Amino acid sequence: MTCFSDHLRRSPVIPVLVVDRVEHAEPLATALAEGGLTVVEVTLRTPAALEVIRRMKRVPALTVGAGTVLTPGDVDSAVTAGADFIVTPGTPVSLVPALRGAGVPVIPGVQTVSEILARIEDGFQILKLFPAEQCGGVGLLKAIAGPLPSVQFCPTGGIDQSKASAYLALKSVAAVGGSWIAPASALAAENWDLITVNARNAALLGAAKES
Ligand code: 3PG
Repeated sequence: MTCFSDHLRRSPVIPVLVVDRVEHAEPLATALAEGGLTVVEVTLRTPAALEVIRRMKRVPALTVGAGTVLTPGDVDSAVTAGADFIVTPGTPVSLVPALRGAGVPVIPGVQTVSEILARIEDGFQILKLFPAEQCGGVGLLKAIAGPLPSVQFCPTGGIDQSKASAYLALKSVAAVGGSWIAPASALAAENWDLITVNARNAALLGAAKES
């Protein structure tokens, strides 16, 4: 059985998706998989999101996570919809028991060293630094690697194709995420070809990290 960290190693750029229309799920999933990105995050920011997760999972190559998970109810709904992993933008202590009991890998959101230490103590192995660019970006991660060299991060927030490689070059970065691969404008225009091109370019960054 392939574990989540293997999936991330193979596909360390995660498209963060905000999908309004359920009928976009399958063409979007196909466009991303054709571009070579196989780990995706569907944010629970739209009424369509849970059905989008269900439908994207019909593309067998994909590992489909749920993002913007804010409450224990969101954890339940995401897992019931079949989410392969869960991502939170921030992680209040009150959410931790539901996350630990989710039964799927969780990437909890953090921003400070104290939050990092607390979530590591809770047993989480990869943390989402959010919003990465706004809270210090690559410089912050380098500074954190001094006292905490073994913590693994998935930074997201303000990262795009031009910024992603500097993150991926860090040992402490397991993956990066961002909405640049499938922006709202491309979804609205149903421009699946553009999304495949963006995914292919992003996958090349991931391949450079692997090699
Ligand atoms: C998010 O959860 O919104 C992600 O971090 C994506 O941020 P971005 O839109 O700045 O890429």
